[in-house]
Amino acid sequence: MTPYEIATIDGDGIGPEVCQSTITVLREACGERLRFTSYDGGAAHYAKTGAVLPEDTYAACRQSHAILHGAAGLPGITYPDGTEVGNDLHLQLRFKLDLYANVRPIRLYRGAKSPLAGWQPGQIDYVIVRENTEGLYASRGAGVNLRGELATDTLVVTRKGVERVARFSFELARRRKGAPRDGKHRVTVCDKANILRSYAFFRAVCDEVARSFPDVEIDYAYADAITVHMLKKPDFYDVIVAENMFGDIISDLGAGTVGGLGIAASAEVGDTHGLFQGAHGSAPDIAGQNLASPVATILSGAMMLRWLAERHGDAALNADADRVEQAVEAVLAQGETVPRDLGGNASCSGMTEAICRALR
Ligand code: IPM
Ligand code: MN
Repeated sequence: MTPYEIATIDGDGIGPEVCQSTITVLREACGERLRFTSYDGGAAHYAKTGAVLPEDTYAACRQSHAILHGAAGLPGITYPDGTEVGNDLHLQLRFKLDLYANVRPIRLYRGAKSPLAGWQPGQIDYVIVRENTEGLYASRGAGVNLRGELATDTLVVTRKGVERVARFSFELARRRKGAPRDGKHRVTVCDKANILRSYAFFRAVCDEVARSFPDVEIDYAYADAITVHMLKKPDFYDVIVAENMFGDIISDLGAGTVGGLGIAASAEVGDTHGLFQGAHGSAPDIAGQNLASPVATILSGAMMLRWLAERHGDAALNADADRVEQAVEAVLAQGETVPRDLGGNASCSGMTEAICRALR
């Protein structure tokens, strides 16, 4: 069987450690069925060469079956307008490969205590689907800065953009087992339809899409209010769909409710390509010291296996994804090898070895 080609980009900060750790775990889980090839990119690469996403890296990403990435970005490396260069690796891949759905599961694992009192594993289990190609971030690099006196960025919402991410969300809700609280298949539309036309339009298009999914309940929450609901009734949620920037913000909040960014997986997918990396940044303060948790990237790797499995009708990869997730959860639940951000003192390599052992 020809292996799946996976383009990997280590990136900056803790990127190389967590990316290499994930490759080790995925090799353990899938053997020779994945072939990893490493490519350059990120802020440090930009400082050296002037390219944050080099042409050959982009070409490889376009041609591969999937893309696995560590993290990119270094604080001092900015454009003249003050924005960070490293993020462009990621943003350009999103825009150029049209990765319109950013899927961020918020799930409480055994062994990862929630800072919210009283919630058990199984009671917090929902998915945030962040629109990933438009919204406010569509203005990246294109906002106006007039004479250094005025700056604007424009929020962009298109019918096509909302339709496809809404449909993606309803289809996802249909396949899931429903909200932990009541088992209802539910899509919550997160917006500020009460204030801005762009968000009222976002909601109206979601309503139109919802008509084709009578088996899935549609629900609405304003972006400000949902920050409270996510803390007080997290079991109510099944799938939440949100505009790009709101999705960025609430997915970090959601991660915080289940242990933090170190456990927050992320999959960015379109109709033809998929990019997988943890939702966290490059954490330069702890880079290169074997301190970072690889868990978010490993769980993103499991999402990659699931996405490949579905695209290629490969049930074995689905089983491998289950095994990787179960191995991570078993290690966390066992309580001996726990990453620092979850209250333990395991190193990046220690976590990697423990997860590989659990897989065996
Ligand atoms: C994320 C990050 C990104 C974002 C960066 C890396 C471009 O914060 O994936 O959530 O702002 O979208
Ligand atoms: Mn973010």
